[in-house]
Amino acid sequence: MEPKPAADSATEMVQVVLPNDANPLGFILGGTVMHLIDIAGAIACHRHTRTLLVTAAVDDLQFLHSIKVGDLIILKSRVTCVFRTSLEVQVDVFSEETLTGRRQLTSRAFLTFVGVDREGRRVPVPPLLVETDEERRVCEEAQARRAARLRRKSAVST
Ligand SMILES: CC(C)(COP(=O)(O)OP(=O)(O)OC[C@H]1O[C@@H](n2cnc3c(N)ncnc32)[C@H](O)[C@@H]1OP(=O)(O)O)[C@@H](O)C(=O)NCCC(=O)NCCS
Repeated sequence: MEPKPAADSATEMVQVVLPNDANPLGFILGGTVMHLIDIAGAIACHRHTRTLLVTAAVDDLQFLHSIKVGDLIILKSRVTCVFRTSLEVQVDVFSEETLTGRRQLTSRAFLTFVGVDREGRRVPVPPLLVETDEERRVCEEAQARRAARLRRKSAVST
């Protein structure tokens, strides 16, 4: 399979926060943000793999600032490292005030997706083309996160 650069699958999603997405304080619900993170991560991974995927893991998630009704929520997703049948994607979430343009990072999430066929069997996914020192550093960090994640998984499964 041909290696593909992360830039080819990098994705930006933008939507306005509507009252239906909010808690009684007028801030977006954490669960709605998590849903959008899953979607943004999946889109970048689908664009990279062009296979069916399942979400295998979502690393711990912090909500640094609230995002209020009427603001924009922006999700930027980028594949960080590809393994054999699985890959990691980083999703950064920003709020943007519609009237001022002020932007803040509100969450950063790392998700792992696994390529599967229609019968649910794992399928190999295309390698990542790693060209710059920065991309190499990002992939090395992803490998360390993967090792920690698999350790946590085996602690849960036993
Ligand atoms: C995710 C899932 C496919 C993994 O199945 P499994 O039999 O435990 O995994 P395998 O041992 O075959 O490993 C497949 C790959 O996934 C990776 N993987 C599995 N669980 C993982 C986890 N929790 N975190 C990170 N990677 C994981 C493995 O390292 C392996 O990667 P590699 O092929 O790139 O080396 C399976 O647990 C599953 O289907 N879970 C439910 C998924 C789901 O319903 N998600 C929500 C809706 S999409």
